[in-house]
Amino acid sequence: GITRHYKFDIKLQNVTRLCHTKSIVSVNGKCPGPRIVAREGDQLLIKVVNHIQNNISIHWHGIRQLRSGWADGPAYITQCPIQTGQSYVYNFTIVGQRGTLWWHAHISWLRSTVYGPIIILPKRGIPYPFAKPYKEVPTIFGEWFNSDPEAIINQALQTGGGPNVSDAYTINGHPGPLYNCSAKDTYKLKVKPGKTYLLRLINAALNDELFFSIANHTLTVVEADAVYVKPFETETLLITPGQTTNVLLKTKSSHPSATFLMTARPYVTGLGTFDNSTVAGVLEYEKPPNVYHSSSLKKLPLFKPILPALNDTTFATNFVNKLRSLANAQFPANVPQNIDKRFFFTVGLGTKPCQSNQTCQGPNGTMFQAAVNNISFVMPTKALLQAHFSGQSNGVYTPDFPTAPLIPFNYTGTPPNNTMVSNGTKLVVLPFNTSVELIMQDTSILGAESHPLHLHGFNFFVVGQGFGSFDPNKDPAKFNLVDPVERNTVGVPSGGWVAIRFHADNPGVWFMHCHLEVHTSWGLKLAWIVLDGKLPNQKLLPPPEDLPKC
Ligand code: C2O
Repeated sequence: GITRHYKFDIKLQNVTRLCHTKSIVSVNGKCPGPRIVAREGDQLLIKVVNHIQNNISIHWHGIRQLRSGWADGPAYITQCPIQTGQSYVYNFTIVGQRGTLWWHAHISWLRSTVYGPIIILPKRGIPYPFAKPYKEVPTIFGEWFNSDPEAIINQALQTGGGPNVSDAYTINGHPGPLYNCSAKDTYKLKVKPGKTYLLRLINAALNDELFFSIANHTLTVVEADAVYVKPFETETLLITPGQTTNVLLKTKSSHPSATFLMTARPYVTGLGTFDNSTVAGVLEYEKPPNVYHSSSLKKLPLFKPILPALNDTTFATNFVNKLRSLANAQFPANVPQNIDKRFFFTVGLGTKPCQSNQTCQGPNGTMFQAAVNNISFVMPTKALLQAHFSGQSNGVYTPDFPTAPLIPFNYTGTPPNNTMVSNGTKLVVLPFNTSVELIMQDTSILGAESHPLHLHGFNFFVVGQGFGSFDPNKDPAKFNLVDPVERNTVGVPSGGWVAIRFHADNPGVWFMHCHLEVHTSWGLKLAWIVLDGKLPNQKLLPPPEDLPKC
């Protein structure tokens, strides 16, 4: 591999969407920010310079960061944030990965405007396991807030209520023609007939899983979270925040006399408010070269795709069940068969008492929280990785995250009366190379809801999922240990459970959280410590000299 250099200047930039002009935090003045392009095996040196008043840190979502956890990026987990006027060089090598990933700010809600694609090409001379596309098109979904997302979340955390929702979804930054005052701000994909395009889809939205479809076109899914899958065709796909999906779009063999909308809107199962709106982009065929007279300029009919209903869990389930690893000789699925350690985590919402001097806007006058095994994670004020590496965990974290819920109950029956959570900065500690099985169960406290859980530092295999309460006597027999999909973010089904397996072969401290930003803010997060192995190449590398200080 080679070394590639990038520079990210974090600065304010005025942008206008939906007729609102505001100053946003951007990378190099752009939103979405710059595209990182590299090959498998390359080293990346990305210098991030902070020119704004807020602290910042950047996460390279889905990059495994083998032994290089110092470059992973979540603030107060693997590093202290980069302060105003300071810089930090993220230094990592891409090992054994190729496909679409993305990067985003990993502090507070700054990722609402600080995000962009990562494209990892296969090593030179290694083809894709599908026909070479004519063109590749990063397609990134985002959310636009007319007001400042930082103010929104700060206010919500103070009052204990739910934060305001966004005003629009975007495709490559553009809300599109279905919003007021946005007709000219539309993403357009111009295509030629009879060609295959590779769309690299990324869900960078803050708080919503999305359905996506292109009118009158079928998509072939070939990759999820930068791992090849067995190709399958679909009209519509589901993508949760944090996930990436590569699809092949085969254009019509001759010029159609129509243009086509591509649309995305949320899949929502929980209670509460959300942005129930639709982003649209346009798929437009280039004019045939022999057409030059004015009749070719007449307005073509516009076709619109039909998306599933907002809460169509049946569609969601059928879609995720189609995802299978390629699992062939060239790309084997290295699924852990023998498990060293089993964990059972409940994921869901909860509450905490209102502070005495306040009126709180959460359920029954409490404050909203979210928790894993009833523990709402408290962010430390020093970086966990530094505390772990230097052996100074005192007052920073405790290594006692419970391997099973504190209060067991029937997760799909009547929720318990007591919705209160506990608090703590509790971590799970794993010896090097532990093979882990983790069941994640949606709790249905304050309502069943799908939670896209993201694990840093690893890919995992999704070996099973189901509805109702997980049954340890019956469900494991149905696990797929042959070709389960391998990914870094998985939707825990609303009112159900998901089972994942992974090899803990990457020493460091690794964050895990719901990728719905509001749930992360409420505490649906935890961290794993993976200890060093015995061999020199099984140890976390020493910290870089410019690692930011708290
Ligand atoms: Cu995409 Cu911890 O994040």
